[in-house]
Amino acid sequence: AGGPIVTDQRCVRGKFPPDALPPLQCCPPASASAPVNFTLPDPAGPLRTRRPVHAVGAEYMAKYARAVALMKALPRSDPRSFYQQANVHCAYCTGAHRQAGRPDLGVQIHFSWLFFPFHRAYLYFFERIAAKLLGDPGFALPVWAWDIPEGMGIPEVFADEASPLYDPIREPSHAPPKVAELDYSLGEGGEKNLTDEQQILHNFRVMYKQMISGATLPSLFLGQPYRAGDPEMPGPGTVEWIPHNSMHIWTGDNSRPNAENMGVYYSAGRDPIFYPHHANIDRLWESWRGIVGARRRRADFADPDWLDSSFLLYDEEARLVRITVRDVLDIDKLRYAYAGVGLPWLNARP
Ligand code: C2O
Repeated sequence: AGGPIVTDQRCVRGKFPPDALPPLQCCPPASASAPVNFTLPDPAGPLRTRRPVHAVGAEYMAKYARAVALMKALPRSDPRSFYQQANVHCAYCTGAHRQAGRPDLGVQIHFSWLFFPFHRAYLYFFERIAAKLLGDPGFALPVWAWDIPEGMGIPEVFADEASPLYDPIREPSHAPPKVAELDYSLGEGGEKNLTDEQQILHNFRVMYKQMISGATLPSLFLGQPYRAGDPEMPGPGTVEWIPHNSMHIWTGDNSRPNAENMGVYYSAGRDPIFYPHHANIDRLWESWRGIVGARRRRADFADPDWLDSSFLLYDEEARLVRITVRDVLDIDKLRYAYAGVGLPWLNARP
């Protein structure tokens, strides 16, 4: 074992949990041509500034809703359709894509150091597809900032049954104005029944632990090394486990065996809240790199097996692109930024 995880075009049915909701096949449409290597966007192009849902305003959220509606209206065979975009996530979590040179092994992007970079690349293309369909080159994804009090719950705009942003397969008791429990888990330990104020303070402490005291090393924050030939899911980073996974489960319908849609990998991308949820995760990666620890600023891995790992994704022109971890490390070069969210938990030492 060793070397980067290189995603092959070969795609198989993958593994689904019992009682999964169809479609139970999530391979992308075959590309007529070989994948092209990723190139950075024009440095003179627009900078897309991702801002929190609660602050961008109704008009902006209507734009995101329109983008989702346009993606939903594309034929299912179009790799830019909402159907196929949701499948992208499914393919990379069910082992549908194979590793290059290892047809016996799937690519699993969760519970390892591939978690943050894969989702960044995925959102990058999703955002560009949305911008293209809207005819608005500066369009940026809104961020579901559940770590600050104004964002700590499902934003109203996602709960409107008439909106393309609505998903009927969510936990009804967590509809707004319910305050989110960032370290939520099913069964014992779930639903702590705190007052809103206590819950917010508790959430701050969770953030402090996951972002600061528990995340002093790249492997602790980004996840454990995962190289070609390794068993999948060597171990998640702090934030992948909580609040990433826990907020997926908090959002999904807890009465379903797999807490669909958001609560399980294969169906999570079917809920339009997935993308603003991941914009927040991505923003936390940026924030983590800016936090100066006892001795030095936190930094990413420098391991070539991480840097050279690669994924296959369709871009806004429906071209299949090979993108590496190295390609996504500088968001300024990717021409996007985050604004409008602070880090109110920065001093919430328990
Ligand atoms: Cu790929 Cu939020 O999970």
